[in-house]
Amino acid sequence: MKRHHVRQCGLLVTSLLVATSSAWIGCSNETAGPIVEQKTAVEHGEVIYNDSSIAGTELNTYSCATCHGETTPDGPIKMGGSLAGATKRTSYWAGQEVDLLRAVNACLYYFMLKDKAWTADDEEARALYAYLEFISQDAPGDALPFTVVTDIVDLPPGDKTRGQKAYQRACATCHGAAHTGAMRLVERAPILPEQTLSEHPLGEYTADERRLVFVEKVRYGAFISYTGQMPPFSLEHLSDDDMADILEYLDLYNVTSK
Ligand code: HEC
Ligand code: HEC
Repeated sequence: MKRHHVRQCGLLVTSLLVATSSAWIGCSNETAGPIVEQKTAVEHGEVIYNDSSIAGTELNTYSCATCHGETTPDGPIKMGGSLAGATKRTSYWAGQEVDLLRAVNACLYYFMLKDKAWTADDEEARALYAYLEFISQDAPGDALPFTVVTDIVDLPPGDKTRGQKAYQRACATCHGAAHTGAMRLVERAPILPEQTLSEHPLGEYTADERRLVFVEKVRYGAFISYTGQMPPFSLEHLSDDDMADILEYLDLYNVTSK
């Protein structure tokens, strides 16, 4: 998990979506009809949406709902955005994907570590589609803006108090509490900041480079020069000011790490 040299690269998702399957064509026709007739499929789809076991591996502890949904001012930041409207959108992943099933399979593959992509005929895929169609009924179908930060620079000093709240909303779900990891969702997510700092020791890294590891990982997630299971945070979901506040809260220059 060490920081690699930042490679020159254009878009976030260049290698993404390779392992995904054929189009979800036909779903909308097959599930057409009054919503009441779809009730069972919609309900099944909602269960699937909230179920981490659909990935078929114990390595995964996320469900779709971990990362998707409405972000409320005090609730967790849903960095994947809301999927209400998703069945009406004409493109996904910042315009890099036009097929909804492939957009979903990307999440199953990269974040949830599912080794086999869903096909349009899979019962789970069909039920999830029914659920997405149901929550999309009254929602606009505009593509979501998703601005990936590729140019990683250090940020000006932030505000520690705001940073505590931003950490709580954006990072704590997976990493648990700062300094202890209490309540973390993902075993492999390091305790912030101590574990990450100790994996990037002073001497090998300057203090400023160690700050950049945090910024870079948050912006790239599992992509570009990183692998793993962490989703990227776009500017729409985490501003540079929020990021600066989080760095301040984590107190990187003063924390002692072994
Ligand atoms: C670990 C976090 C995470 C998990 C788990 C996850 N996603 Fe995502 N998903 C993302 C991120 C980040 C994006 C990129 C956001 C964007 O494109 O606006 C995304 C994008 C998408 C998109 C494209 C949205 C768009 O309009 O661009 C769809 C559809 C989607 N996910 C569906 C799902 C479904 C269904 C599941 C569960 C089977 C799931 N995701 C699980 C993080 C996640
Ligand atoms: C959806 C779960 C999730 C969320 C939310 C999340 N992370 Fe992570 N993070 C992980 C996982 C899992 C890893 C382990 C490496 C990997 O799988 O990508 C990780 C690794 C890291 C690392 C280590 C990078 C390295 O190369 O050593 C840092 C730093 C980090 N996260 C910071 C953050 C910060 C700051 C936030 C909040 C803005 C955050 N993460 C939000 C799941 C998450």
